[in-house]
Amino acid sequence: MRVCRTITDCRAIVADYKSKGETVGMVPTMGFLHAGHMTLVKLASSKADRTVVSIFVNPSQFGESADLDAYPRDEPRDLAMLKAAGVDLVFIPDVDTMYPPGDETVVETTRLANMLHGKVRPGHFRGVTTVVSRLFNIVQPDIACFGEKDYQQLQIIKRMVADLHMPVQVIGGKTVREDDGLAMSSRNVRLSTQDRAAALVLSRSLDAAEHAVQSGTTVEKLRDVIASTIRAEPRAALKGLDIVAAESLNELSGFVNEPTAIMLSVAFGDILLIDQRVVTP
Ligand code: PAJ
Repeated sequence: MRVCRTITDCRAIVADYKSKGETVGMVPTMGFLHAGHMTLVKLASSKADRTVVSIFVNPSQFGESADLDAYPRDEPRDLAMLKAAGVDLVFIPDVDTMYPPGDETVVETTRLANMLHGKVRPGHFRGVTTVVSRLFNIVQPDIACFGEKDYQQLQIIKRMVADLHMPVQVIGGKTVREDDGLAMSSRNVRLSTQDRAAALVLSRSLDAAEHAVQSGTTVEKLRDVIASTIRAEPRAALKGLDIVAAESLNELSGFVNEPTAIMLSVAFGDILLIDQRVVTP
């Protein structure tokens, strides 16, 4: 496994793959890897000859610098996991490499970035699309894998790639969960023992929502079912609840009669967790 930190080195290694006619699959990450990331690595490896993983904690997608500073990091552990998974190349740029001094170009999906989770975290998705477009320009992958856990992010990346005619196929991977149902996230380690237990309210409320949809319900009743399940957990603060059409992410109302994405953001103290589920009546 090669590890590189500069754009020149990364481009030279990828050019070598491409000169041999090999395809390149990429998994962008912010490190502190867990089984969710590794599932995407496996997915990319199954679809392309070479697998490239990037590790970059992207400042432009964090609202407060406290959140950025608190983001967990463990490069040696990440590298050991990636090596064991048979990854070919790990790209670990620093902030000045990704954001050269004086840079001013951003990439934004103007509608999708500013709705739903984007309302709770202003500027977040602009940071994501800006960094992912830069990573794609450096690595030039044929395919790139993103998790369905960050459902809005996945839809936004698909939109960006289509709009900017990027020659990348974007593939979504299923959400990987802990045994008790909590979606795996690098943020989970920051939860106190009590909050970790309380965080099960996310998957529990999505279970209740799925059950309601399958028995037939309206968007308004569905909202009540989810909000009251979250409110019953005193440690949890509901920050966002969106019930939207699965692809356009447009808001729905009335009887639920199409594939519907339920998107949740719930805070435990200063830690914001998200989860989502697409339910089909
Ligand atoms: P990060 O949170 O490190 O996640 C990297 C990828 O892993 C994302 O595509 C995310 O959706 C996926 N992922 C996270 N938890 C998952 C889980 N439990 N199951 C399946 N997939 C999961 O998302 C980012 O980084 C950044 O925004 C990034 C795209 C790298 C841009 O900076």
